[in-house]
Amino acid sequence: MIVGIVGAGNMGTGIAKAFAMNDGFTVYLCDSNELIANKAKRRIGKELEYSVERGRYTKEQADAMMKRIVTGTKYICEEADLVIECIYEDVKTKKETLKELDKICKPECLLCTNTSRYSITELGAGLSRPLTGMHFQNPATTMKLVDVGIGMNTPKETADRVAEIARMIGKVPIQYPEIGGAGYMVDRILLPMINEAIGICAENDVPPEKIDQAMILGANHPMGPLELGDLIGLDLVLKIMQNIQEDTGDSKYRPHPLLRKMVRGGRLGRKTGQGFYKYDEAGRKLKD
Ligand SMILES: NC(=O)c1ccc[n+]([C@@H]2O[C@H](COP(=O)([O-])OP(=O)(O)OC[C@H]3O[C@@H](n4cnc5c(N)ncnc54)[C@H](O)[C@@H]3O)[C@@H](O)[C@H]2O)c1
Repeated sequence: MIVGIVGAGNMGTGIAKAFAMNDGFTVYLCDSNELIANKAKRRIGKELEYSVERGRYTKEQADAMMKRIVTGTKYICEEADLVIECIYEDVKTKKETLKELDKICKPECLLCTNTSRYSITELGAGLSRPLTGMHFQNPATTMKLVDVGIGMNTPKETADRVAEIARMIGKVPIQYPEIGGAGYMVDRILLPMINEAIGICAENDVPPEKIDQAMILGANHPMGPLELGDLIGLDLVLKIMQNIQEDTGDSKYRPHPLLRKMVRGGRLGRKTGQGFYKYDEAGRKLKD
């Protein structure tokens, strides 16, 4: 099966790797510029080298995964059986890109979006085929859940087929209709928690390490909320909070001013090397 991933950023790269880890898939990893897609493939190569050093994969397995990934722009998706749109969170650009993909892809190709924030019904309006949410968690290679987002115009059989493909790569799909504001249940619960942690950090002068440690030890979370915000990208955390607030009209979802300030200052988390913590080029957290 050929899977096209359009948008080779944080999520697109992880999703490409999640498919490439499985025999029987060829992954077309695309971005607006082929050089960005090439860079993303190099990043996967570096991660795999590291995994080989640690004995997680053999060199042969890592080489086979790299061979399954082809880079390019969205135009190579004409042969794909499934295309997942993973471009950055901007509704106008997403709609334009989905319209273009609808023209480029063969009629039987399944079209999905990884959006965390926008309505599947809205993004899919005017397309010649149904749109389905195929929402991976971050990091896509290790997290089991794939939300299968059902819009008003997504037939059950299309959502079932998307769920079946998620199972083929070892994921556990959960199907449900889109949820207001944040598209999915986990984000609707997690993002306000991250925003709350940012408020505690800012208003009570508690260091990020202590907040994260408290949630790891006290709530049994594998990662604290501020490190999680860094992993997701604080720009995306801000956008989703704005969306939930706008959609529900409830001021309890107001993004904290410190979150806005960090985004204005370019401290977006792992992807920029600094958020609540500092990171090296491979995305590993640095000790102060
Ligand atoms: N970051 C997360 O934790 C997370 C989790 C689940 C879902 N998502 C969703 O995944 C999507 C991508 O998020 P991200 O964090 O990977 O973003 P990102 O900013 O890391 O990457 C976006 C990529 O899209 C590319 N791009 C932009 N316009 C394009 C176009 N017209 N054609 C092709 N490529 C284009 C950019 O060059 C960039 O490489 C968003 O919809 C987001 O809501 C993110």
